[in-house]
Amino acid sequence: MKGCGMRIPFGTVTITRTAKELIADCLETGRISGGTLVDRFEKRMAGLLEVEEAVAVSSGTDADTLALAVLHDFGAKRGDEPALSYAATGHAVIHAGFMPVFVDVDLETLNIDVEKIESAITPKTRAIFPVHLLGKPAAMSEIVDIAKRRNLSVIEDAAEAWGAMYNGKPVGSIGDLGAFSLYVAHIITTGDGGLVTTNNREYAEVVRSLRGHGRACACKQCVSTVTGGKCEKRFADSGIGDRRFHFQRIGYSSRMNNLEAALGLGSLEKYSEILEIRRRNLFACMVGFERFQEFFWTFKEEKQERIGPHAFPFVVRKGMPFTREQVLLYLVRHGIDPRTLFGSIPTQCGGYEFLGHRLGDFPNSEYFGTHGLHIGVHQDISPGDVEFFLDTVANFLKAHI
Ligand SMILES: Cc1ncc(COP(=O)(O)O)c(C=O)c1O
Repeated sequence: MKGCGMRIPFGTVTITRTAKELIADCLETGRISGGTLVDRFEKRMAGLLEVEEAVAVSSGTDADTLALAVLHDFGAKRGDEPALSYAATGHAVIHAGFMPVFVDVDLETLNIDVEKIESAITPKTRAIFPVHLLGKPAAMSEIVDIAKRRNLSVIEDAAEAWGAMYNGKPVGSIGDLGAFSLYVAHIITTGDGGLVTTNNREYAEVVRSLRGHGRACACKQCVSTVTGGKCEKRFADSGIGDRRFHFQRIGYSSRMNNLEAALGLGSLEKYSEILEIRRRNLFACMVGFERFQEFFWTFKEEKQERIGPHAFPFVVRKGMPFTREQVLLYLVRHGIDPRTLFGSIPTQCGGYEFLGHRLGDFPNSEYFGTHGLHIGVHQDISPGDVEFFLDTVANFLKAHI
């Protein structure tokens, strides 16, 4: 296990022989920027996620940002989103040029509380931006239903939701656009990277333009960089000169390169195996915590879904004779590397004060932010490690209640 001196580190990375060979080939041939491997990776990902289009970008945050920024081409001015998430979700709304309207989460799911969505919709709202936090799918049927009635787009933040299914469909394939992270802590990784998914060809074209500074190039497969041929479109438009240097939109510099795609292609080879191990670990934690349910809350898998095994959350219940910090430090002392759960973006993350919210406006998100923890369930954690984690929690409780 690659760790930080911990018996159970939060994350790990699996770099396959294929990834190493592909990277060596890129270095040998000098083909390190976007091209053949990115194209191959995008095709594989579209197949895996059951979508027509998968556009590789440089991070999950950029995937969120570009998916949102597509809306500018379709008349949008403002967006909204849920309150509890990794801070990147909020940042992306701002980066895309919108103003977020936050909605609190449900205490049973960690995800956007669908009962609170309609009252947050204003005349300026253009999209609902649910997050599938820690791989637990948001209530997509209800969300899509509201969006249809109110004529809004749905953009799914599936950054942490590799392997998550909702009513038999991969998350990220249900809304208008989906956004995944390929950061090193995630189940498929390119080191740093992201992916935008959609079944809408026009949206995918806009994303391809946005990731390269908003240039007029939006082909699914670039003739120049992938097949090495001559691009017939490049000088075909009179009046604009070279299409590659004609900028149509306020774009971003968010490309994925071949070295990153090589890591991703290698990672994909082990995807099913890794997913299975992580599901085994997640369920061992969930079942193991049934005996601690008086003290800690954790999520459950409902019949309509399959949780993507990103991490195992556990939240100190109200009125306990111990604090979240005591649990955290006890676990760290015993070689387990938990992370605090993300809090409410508008009231617990610096930088969002300008929105004028006060602590107490998003009570559920804030509660998770002050009482929640999560640990990794990754492929280098053995059943013995999970037992050790459960025993350590039991020993903590013995000493504190
Ligand atoms: C819910 C959520 N959205 C967005 C991101 C941003 O992804 P990245 O770190 O690849 O930019 C993350 C990060 O893991 C995340 O957890």
